[in-house]
Amino acid sequence: MILFPHTAVVADNHLIIGGCDTVELAEEFGTPLYIFDEATLRHKCSEYRDGFSKHFHDSLICYACKAFISRALARIFNEEGLGLDVVSGGELSIAKSTGFPMERVYFNGNNKSRDELETAIDWGVGCIAVDNFHELSMLDELAPGIRDGERTKILIRISPGIDPHTHAHLKTGLIDSKFGFPLPLAEEAITEAMASSSLELAGLHYHIGSQILDLAPFKQAIDLALDFAADMDNKHGFKLKELNIGGGLGIAYTEEQQPPSVDMFAKAIANALKVKCNQLDIQPPRLIVEPGRSITGQAGVAIYTIGAVKDIEGVRKYVSVDGGMGDNIRPALYGAKYQAIVANRVEDQNRERVTVAGKFCESGDILISDIDLPALASGDILAVPCCGAYCLSMASNYNSSLKPAIVLVNDSDARLIQRRETYEDLMRCDMV
Ligand code: LLP
Repeated sequence: MILFPHTAVVADNHLIIGGCDTVELAEEFGTPLYIFDEATLRHKCSEYRDGFSKHFHDSLICYACKAFISRALARIFNEEGLGLDVVSGGELSIAKSTGFPMERVYFNGNNKSRDELETAIDWGVGCIAVDNFHELSMLDELAPGIRDGERTKILIRISPGIDPHTHAHLKTGLIDSKFGFPLPLAEEAITEAMASSSLELAGLHYHIGSQILDLAPFKQAIDLALDFAADMDNKHGFKLKELNIGGGLGIAYTEEQQPPSVDMFAKAIANALKVKCNQLDIQPPRLIVEPGRSITGQAGVAIYTIGAVKDIEGVRKYVSVDGGMGDNIRPALYGAKYQAIVANRVEDQNRERVTVAGKFCESGDILISDIDLPALASGDILAVPCCGAYCLSMASNYNSSLKPAIVLVNDSDARLIQRRETYEDLMRCDMV
């Protein structure tokens, strides 16, 4: 069960996660249902935290909330000693509402509003990664007024111009990108920030992309950022105290994909940093890493009920589930591939090739094309692994559908951490 959470086992032909029978969970909470396995989540946190602290002298792992955040998860990340990468006032508010230590919160984004920046400074976020000149001047002007005499800690986000060999929509560090300063402009941003009496420039940030399965682009980015930092030191006396390398480590969505382990990733990053700092004769900076997908991806499983089954002889057999692009837009948006098993008949062998369709009014709402599954009938329960990241966080109410319920399972206990939406929820902002 390699794609599933660590606690996944089969008992009586049923899929069990965190000691809970997923078929019973489907009955109790309804479907579509998203299940998060607490043991896998905590294990991923400790792999990152301990992996980096083993290989590097000073690091902080900030979970990227955009992959998916809820208050229950924010509490777990806090207990595990992680920080958070937030990109909106919304993510910031979720963190704040759980009492998350604001000094461990990093604020990213290419178009933060004045309101968001004011709130972030007021609440004392640990650091703001500045993306453009507009933001730099807003911050310079806002900062002294909000927190008396305290300088606001910032990083300058650079776009290093490195191709991470991933889906075009998941590349974020190219020169032709809406994110960050290309290097010549970054120099200007650095000198501007250094001249500001209300900002404390701590270092650099970048994020080259997401779902990256190869370590080489990560190392390339470190070399480039440190060469640039050394050049800025020579020219302007800029000191790189902190380097934030973003996230991006990929996960296996299908059995053929083989991402590096978190420990291999940590070791490669730490070594690249140490070697380059040595070569340039600069002090190794504090390291910030912002993983999203590689922390929550494998911990989450989507559970659906099969409804209509339509066999177009000689063409294709469609089996439709009660969710789809409303809760998981990734296949439609990126051509993302998923696998699945039948949770109530995991070991049945009489397989046939089917295409799993969602229930949304859109031909492109296909969750999985051409998968071999035990012959399915209406009422069967389908479990799709690797749905913990970028499914629920990108969910919509398309077709006025309701967003799914979420349960957190651990030690045979299932806790509802987000209830299913109701029709009243759909109309709560509607002014009639
Ligand atoms: N830090 C920054 C500044 C980011 O922009 C991102 C992701 C991360 C960290 C976390 O990256 P991760 O470790 O999760 O790869 N919706 C797409 C993914 C978009 C990622 C955007 N930025 C998907 O479903 O694949």
